[in-house]
Amino acid sequence: MTAASETPRPGADQAERTFAAAGADTDVVAIAPEPEHAEGILEESALDDPFGPDVVAKAQDLAGRYPESRSALLPMLHLVQSVQGYVSQEGIAFCARQLDLSDAEVSAVATFYTMYKRRPCGEHLVSVCTNTLCAALGGDAIYRKLQEHLGEDGKPLGHEETVGTPGEPGSLTIEHAECLAACDLAPVLQVNYEYFDNQTPEKAVALVDALRAGKKPAPTRGAPLTDFKGAELQLAGFFPEDEETYRSHVDGPSQAVETLRGAQIAQERGWTAPVMTDVPLPEVEKK
Ligand code: FES
Repeated sequence: MTAASETPRPGADQAERTFAAAGADTDVVAIAPEPEHAEGILEESALDDPFGPDVVAKAQDLAGRYPESRSALLPMLHLVQSVQGYVSQEGIAFCARQLDLSDAEVSAVATFYTMYKRRPCGEHLVSVCTNTLCAALGGDAIYRKLQEHLGEDGKPLGHEETVGTPGEPGSLTIEHAECLAACDLAPVLQVNYEYFDNQTPEKAVALVDALRAGKKPAPTRGAPLTDFKGAELQLAGFFPEDEETYRSHVDGPSQAVETLRGAQIAQERGWTAPVMTDVPLPEVEKK
């Protein structure tokens, strides 16, 4: 049994050992020490604070949009990503300070959702749907093709790995994603969360080549393509200056022929869903 005096205490030394033991691929955001216990960390980040007055003003704007300021955490994490391209430990501490939460509370949220990235992303994030319907219609083949095409020295690019220097022009991060809610247009992929429908391996390769070359091909629908950080700013709730034009793109009709095909066939053939009879719900045993 370990004596109480031998229990590792949180602090900078312990954090360093934890990082080393965990390795580069392991998420350690949630177990890094509280800043007040980590000698040297506060001083260092204060000197090189990426979150300037403009970001602080946006964060305060977000906090003021909700009756309880802590409800602004999700958009604020997107705001952090719009600055750094991922949620860093500094980003966690920034949100905690703005919303009067602990670092652990912010970490718990940031590490739960896949849209919050723990490593810096490329200029663009390419998400390939490999969920059941897309996979069966070619999503797996598209993802494999992109992995091979973007990999280097015969090594395929892995999930959430980046080709090029993260954040620099032409850099791309790829990921396989769960259902992107566009099964009617499968197989689909997204670039910075904008849809490219009815994909094939060839179309997907042409798309990533265009992105690598600095082009921004138009998505099949929705808003025009920006970059990952720009999309994150929009997800935080801050829109381009010409908000009206932007909204007209986003809010425009997005149903496709495929979306309505099932309903049309049913209408033509006179199919309807069975009428719901008014059957009382079974009794549930009280606990
Ligand atoms: S399975 Fe790919 S969008 Fe639903």
